[in-house]
Amino acid sequence: MSSAGAVDLSVKIGALRLRNPILAASGTFGYGLEFAHLVDLNSLGGFVTKGLSREPIEGAPAPRLFPTPSGMLNAVGLQNVGVRAFVAEKLPVLRKFDTAVIANVFGYTLEDYVEVIRALEDADGLAGYELNISCPNVKKGGMQFGSDPACVAEVVSAGRQAASKRPLWVKLSPLVTDIGLIARAAEEAGADALTVANTYPAMAINSRSWKSHLGNQTGGLSGPAIKPITLKLVWETRKAVKIPVLGLGGVETVEDVLEYLAVGASAVQVGTASFADPRASQRLVDGLSKSLFERKMFTVNEIRDRFLAENG
Ligand SMILES: Cc1cc2nc3c(=O)[nH]c(=O)nc-3n(C[C@H](O)[C@H](O)[C@H](O)COP(=O)(O)O)c2cc1C
Repeated sequence: MSSAGAVDLSVKIGALRLRNPILAASGTFGYGLEFAHLVDLNSLGGFVTKGLSREPIEGAPAPRLFPTPSGMLNAVGLQNVGVRAFVAEKLPVLRKFDTAVIANVFGYTLEDYVEVIRALEDADGLAGYELNISCPNVKKGGMQFGSDPACVAEVVSAGRQAASKRPLWVKLSPLVTDIGLIARAAEEAGADALTVANTYPAMAINSRSWKSHLGNQTGGLSGPAIKPITLKLVWETRKAVKIPVLGLGGVETVEDVLEYLAVGASAVQVGTASFADPRASQRLVDGLSKSLFERKMFTVNEIRDRFLAENG
């Protein structure tokens, strides 16, 4: 029997059933449409859109990307078309695809988050929302929403009230002292799932020109360099909450996917890997199925069971 027929890759993230546990991550897959000629979108568990804001944002000055050994720095500055253009121009085309489209939402004030969700609530074609709470809260002096449990509770409850129709995922910042504390604050405020995690603040400079390699001076580090650190955060988050956790950070190979699922992620997202190989997410779906079959495993849950049997 072929692996394709024998292995059931489907997973449940709360009430949402996904075809498989591989999604493309926010900011690395455009609005999905840019990848539709390269990737069979219907083969993925889903994808998360570029972060959407109330108004369009032009983003940070170039250069916006810089490769580092085993990682990538980016400072895109949350460039996006704005939520209204997304609903009017992108969503109607996305509805032709049979994949879970998750809208990534961000803002600089609570009202921004609520407004973006309100603009999405009546639109068809979305499977859920992902709140990016790693953004500076302008009212609180630029402090990130995601680094203080009280702020997290505030933004998640506001999002929860606005999002009456769809699951609400909350994407955590990795830059916190105790991720369990933040995760529980989000869970208690009504999050349906947690996405762990975003990029790590970082910088790189040119030692000839003494200029930063990024137009924005600093940026976020992603890719293989962050995987072991984020893997531990996913493991800690999973122990702290009952709601599902999605893991992301440096997922490039099937082994990376297996590691995240083993420590308790219900699904993974693929970010930086899509830059080097735009088909990375689809390749991982096929690879996961084959890998489970070879290991004589027929459902995704068995990975976690094996990890627990070895590690308690
Ligand atoms: C160029 C770029 C743009 C990103 N834009 C967003 C974004 O708009 N919203 C968001 O929540 N995360 C954004 N991220 C973070 C990724 O979704 C992901 O959390 C992070 O890159 C770690 O995963 P990776 O190592 O697989 O890339 C961005 C990452 C990159 C590299």
